[in-house]
Amino acid sequence: MSVNWTNSRANRLSTLPPYVFARLDELKAQARAQGIDLIDLGMGNPDGLAPEPVIDAAKEAFSHAPFHGYPPFEGTASFREAITAWYQRRYGVDLNPDNEALPLLGSKEGLTHLALAYINPGDVVLVPSPSYPPHFRGPLIAGATLYPIILSAKQDWLIDVTQIPDEIAHKAKILYFNYPSNPTTATAPREFFEEIVAFARHYEIMLVHDLCYAELAFDEYQPTSLLEIPGAKDIGVEFHTLSKTYNMAGWRVGFVVGNSDIIQGLRTLKTNLDYGIFSVLQKAAETALQLPDEYVKEVQDRYRKRRDFLIKGLNELGWDIKPSKATMYLWIPCPIGLNSTDFALNVLRTTGVVLTPGNAFGEGGEGYVRISLITDCDRMAEVLRRFVEAGIRYDNSK
Ligand SMILES: Cc1ncc(COP(=O)(O)O)c(C=O)c1O
Repeated sequence: MSVNWTNSRANRLSTLPPYVFARLDELKAQARAQGIDLIDLGMGNPDGLAPEPVIDAAKEAFSHAPFHGYPPFEGTASFREAITAWYQRRYGVDLNPDNEALPLLGSKEGLTHLALAYINPGDVVLVPSPSYPPHFRGPLIAGATLYPIILSAKQDWLIDVTQIPDEIAHKAKILYFNYPSNPTTATAPREFFEEIVAFARHYEIMLVHDLCYAELAFDEYQPTSLLEIPGAKDIGVEFHTLSKTYNMAGWRVGFVVGNSDIIQGLRTLKTNLDYGIFSVLQKAAETALQLPDEYVKEVQDRYRKRRDFLIKGLNELGWDIKPSKATMYLWIPCPIGLNSTDFALNVLRTTGVVLTPGNAFGEGGEGYVRISLITDCDRMAEVLRRFVEAGIRYDNSK
């Protein structure tokens, strides 16, 4: 007997928009099969090893039996204490490690499960477009009615809360947002955070801020934490990850901090879904957060050099890209007349370089592609060489 399980899938899966990466994945597989030397700048997947002290801490923890059992549901006390100490050091914000910090199996897991913990079918959720896909896919899985806030270069890719209609703001339950932003690389000034906190307090909207790129900032720029803003803890939480700064994307370690009631709801859900992060990795993550600032400076220098190198090369090919103050990406307009999927597919076919089409981040990302700075300058030089050879350029005379 053969049953068609595809038709039996829950409705919640069919609410998800088509997966733009699927066609790219197919072409990537074909290119690899043809022996093409792909340069994959698609995902934000850092290259290189986690810091040596972090690996050493994991090795040491491995040889102790207690680290091999189920971890505590709320995460180990020492990792939670390392999180709150890091927050105090970075932002001067006091948090209670017992109920205002929760380790996660990567921030993607927490961002998505938060939606399941708080959204009932039909609840209105405000999500910028473009944005990191779990910010809208999580709510969609939970049955939310999305209100996309379309961002634009004209507004420096910042959310303008004054453009959200009053009746929508009254209905909205949650606002997801992320500065420094993936994919736009935009950063937001402190006044922006003050404005959004005032808006959320007025309409009683939960703020979910994703500070994934907290440390990947350049030229003396220091990103703002939502929790630095007075009154933010009454209405918001902030998500962090160890994936980017510490080259630990495969380790799956992140955390959420902020309002204890909001965190308690997520914790209750997670208690029923998972057992948390392997204690060995929590020990290592604790070590990462205690690394001296010099480590972070080295990481920042690495990405800044790559950013400057690639921008210089692309600007010589007709683009006019201004250096972003943070993140590990470039967000560049497609040549006039090409949409983001066509441009990314054309680049892949003609050069073997993988970029992410902007529409993967929502309709507001159409017309742009994202390039991840996840390879060294020698390899970037090869990207530029292939662009020249294939005639990939931005013609701003049209
Ligand atoms: C904004 C943002 N949040 C979260 C993540 C994922 O973090 P994690 O690896 O902790 O799930 C990413 C990864 O690209 C991201 O860009």
